[in-house]
Amino acid sequence: MRRFYSQVKEAPYTRLCSTKNILTVNGQFPGPTLYAQTGDTIIVDVQNKGNQNITIHWHGVKMPRYPWSDGPEFITQCPIKPGGTFSQKIVLSDEEGTLWWHAHSEWSRATVHGAIIIYPKNGTTYPFPKPQAEVPLILGEWWKSDIQEVMEEFMENGRDPNNSDAFLINGQPGDLYSCSRPDTFKLTVEYGKIYLLRMINTVMNNILFFSVANHQITVVGTDGSYTKPLKTSYIAISPGQTIDFLLEANQKPNHYYMAARAYNSAPAVPFDTTTTTAIIQYEGNYRPSSPPPLPQLPAFNDTSALTSFAGSLRSLASKDHPVNVPLKISTNLFFTLSINTLPCASNNTCEGPGGNRLSASVNNITLQTTPIDILEAYYRQINGIYGTDFPKFPPLAFNYTAASLPVQLRTPRRATEVRMIQYNSTVELVFQGTNLVAGVDHPMHLHGYSFYVVGWGIGNFDKDKDPKNYNLVDPPLQNTFAVPKNGWAAIRFKADNPGVWFMHCHFERHVSWGMGMTFIVTNGNHPDAKILPPPPDMPRC
Ligand code: C2O
Ligand code: CU
Repeated sequence: MRRFYSQVKEAPYTRLCSTKNILTVNGQFPGPTLYAQTGDTIIVDVQNKGNQNITIHWHGVKMPRYPWSDGPEFITQCPIKPGGTFSQKIVLSDEEGTLWWHAHSEWSRATVHGAIIIYPKNGTTYPFPKPQAEVPLILGEWWKSDIQEVMEEFMENGRDPNNSDAFLINGQPGDLYSCSRPDTFKLTVEYGKIYLLRMINTVMNNILFFSVANHQITVVGTDGSYTKPLKTSYIAISPGQTIDFLLEANQKPNHYYMAARAYNSAPAVPFDTTTTTAIIQYEGNYRPSSPPPLPQLPAFNDTSALTSFAGSLRSLASKDHPVNVPLKISTNLFFTLSINTLPCASNNTCEGPGGNRLSASVNNITLQTTPIDILEAYYRQINGIYGTDFPKFPPLAFNYTAASLPVQLRTPRRATEVRMIQYNSTVELVFQGTNLVAGVDHPMHLHGYSFYVVGWGIGNFDKDKDPKNYNLVDPPLQNTFAVPKNGWAAIRFKADNPGVWFMHCHFERHVSWGMGMTFIVTNGNHPDAKILPPPPDMPRC
């Protein structure tokens, strides 16, 4: 068993020539990396020395039968109050590769996050050549203003939140931004060697494109599981997702930029078009070119670059890493993902469409938070906290991606409804993007599980035709998948992990607007198929 100590506290950081206090873990930004091996249990003693409530989530860790440490506030726990502590038990099972941890309370994950690196068990190795070195590449962002204020402001005025002022690689904006040059992240490489880069998109509201000048990339893993090697010139990565890739230092000794910038399919809303960079520098005696070569990134609105990258990922599907896609489905679900509007509080006008506030919904329900967490209410059978009527299908069938859509769906219902799923059901869930207020991509994330992405497409899902083209042989195993703008995606998983599990869009503005829902997977009959008891130090509301 491994034990880590993690103290959440404010610390001053300077980026883009301005200094502010940010919330950190152990004073570090990005936060410390957790190292483990497949199957380990880790204890993290979280101590809240900050001045706001906090929870910590272990993104992509399935936590078999132990939702108590999963972290989403008011879903599986009450927040840790300032001065409070909580010992979290992180139970790894078959995850191997890169995952991450982040705050799961309000918008604090903007600065409270870090990598989880899970090595193969003793006696086993990577399904690819052993790299010379392994380096986390954490894609993040920097706001000059206080993140709590950014959140409060957009929740108040009802429109889109302000953009960040820079994207970051390992905490640094890179030298294309003014005021950043000396701090650019640098990776020194030796000619002829192979490097394993473990990339995480921690950004709040943007899918990112990433590329390395003059070098090909070989993707070998995503979301804590291995993929077939995929050679590519760029990566598209959603918030929440991780991509492990190999980089062979096989170019003329020089220094080269690696770069990332936002993908945005809805440029009606202004977004941050800037580029963050880091440098790959070959060892040796040579005169580097000035400036270093910059990579070509896909155009910011190139949806086909996004879908063709995501659609090229395949499970490794080897003897050691087999595929277990459910073939017979017992629970079919169809969830629409919509941006809608709600009336402004107390007869004020908001700055969203028609003087309303923007909201978001799944099957036309906007997530309403509860005074105590759903897990506690479920486990102790406390009534009146949530309902069990989360609809399996949208309230009416319509042409989801048409330009004009049923008016009654413009205003969603506010509720806390869960969907109960029987232990060991085989679930197929189709996400359908809609075009109510606007069509936009949605990186959907499920807690407690990894799922197989068996199909996706643009336009309306066709239940007669589309399933015929599902990949049931080697679909990628992921915990976050970007449902394309005005498109759909189908995922499958076996509900073998009893617990209370949040599912939501990993765009922070969308989940703040209510694009999330909760699954309760019931206990099985066997004693080994029941939720474990809670620890004694669960935070109280
Ligand atoms: Cu990465 Cu619910 O979180
Ligand atoms: Cu979304």
